[in-house]
Amino acid sequence: MQIRAAVLEEFGQPLAVQEVELAEPKAGEALVRLVACGVCHTDLYTASGADPSGYAPCVLGHEGAGVVEAVGADVNSLRTGDHVITLFAPECGRCRHCLDPRTNRCVAIREQQGLGYLPDGTTRLFRDGEALRHFMGTSTFAEYAVLPEIALAKVSPEAPLEGCAPFACGLSTGIGAALYTARVEGGSMCVVFGCGLVGLGAVIGCRLAGAERIVAIDLSDERLEMARHHGATDTRLAGDDVVDWIRSETDGFGADYTFEATGNVHVMRQAVEAAREAWGLATMIGVAGKGETLDIVPRFLITGRRVTGSSFGGVKGRTQVPELVDRWLAGEIDVESMLSHRLALDDVNRGFELMEAQDGIRSIVVFS
Ligand SMILES: NC(=O)c1ccc[n+]([C@@H]2O[C@H](COP(=O)([O-])OP(=O)(O)OC[C@H]3O[C@@H](n4cnc5c(N)ncnc54)[C@H](O)[C@@H]3O)[C@@H](O)[C@H]2O)c1
Ligand SMILES: [Zn+2]
Ligand SMILES: [Zn+2]
Repeated sequence: MQIRAAVLEEFGQPLAVQEVELAEPKAGEALVRLVACGVCHTDLYTASGADPSGYAPCVLGHEGAGVVEAVGADVNSLRTGDHVITLFAPECGRCRHCLDPRTNRCVAIREQQGLGYLPDGTTRLFRDGEALRHFMGTSTFAEYAVLPEIALAKVSPEAPLEGCAPFACGLSTGIGAALYTARVEGGSMCVVFGCGLVGLGAVIGCRLAGAERIVAIDLSDERLEMARHHGATDTRLAGDDVVDWIRSETDGFGADYTFEATGNVHVMRQAVEAAREAWGLATMIGVAGKGETLDIVPRFLITGRRVTGSSFGGVKGRTQVPELVDRWLAGEIDVESMLSHRLALDDVNRGFELMEAQDGIRSIVVFS
């Protein structure tokens, strides 16, 4: 079929929205009609050429939500009409990592996905008869997409699909970092550095976990206000003094859990140093620039601080994304307040501009 899609033709250039061909789903795959897709930093990171593993041309987009229109052979868990959220981090349910409760790092299709292909090593996207590569196994800046069954989370049909989109990446990442990676314990003191969608998600996750004190830190008063709305008990403007301030608030020891959601390695260092001596856990979520490293004084580790990182919040996509959506429907998460701008696919580059200007928490491409 002919579909409209946003193609990254060349690094550093705006995406070009155009007609491309999409082939039918093969065995183990489904055709999804996209209803909404969030514009995430990773799309821009790749489009800019900063991502060393990026490739062009390809169809970008990975924060998608939509409706299953058709399924290929051997698809048992999805049927036409199901509401789904796309998963750049799939869950096959069978590999060594899927079977282990400690991780969401499914290895089933990683190699081909990283190269821009579906699991059988081919594409369903074409242009002028030539293969056009997929992005993150999703390519959801498009009216339709073909994805592996294991990369689609079936969610409640009650959930508005525009609000489902952020669960495909940023929001689940933040919430999951608190619930599944750090496993925040009730009554804890938590600090979240950075209050974009990911950091706000971490604030929400800490609240859902029953944290007693949740400190949000950002450069923007407006974002700190958002953090309060989502459950932060304290807010503080970012600066060189935040580590000392956190220690002074905790009898000199530091916070039980810290989360870094800016991608700035200096802030990562603050998150490590603000974690409590003896058992504090610092979770890195932000994506640092190419070649950057995190500087840690080893003594901080010897005295018991721990450091970890979180990819897609440690969320096992097919199992846990639907659970998070149910918590939204139950009134525990306010998603609407994070959907800042609704754009047509033709205006997808405007989504990047808004993101760079830090205008709004999330721009969502909405397909008519
Ligand atoms: N690990 C993952 O799987 C994953 C998934 C999605 C996004 N990310 C990454 O998470 C990070 C955050 O994403 P986002 O969409 O929330 O971004 P965002 O740009 O919307 O938010 C970042 C926030 O950090 C704040 N900030 C900047 N410098 C700061 C400082 N010195 N101290 C405190 N706050 C500061 C900004 O004001 C902004 O509010 C990005 O690096 C993104 O690439 C990671
Ligand atoms: Zn993303
Ligand atoms: Zn797996």
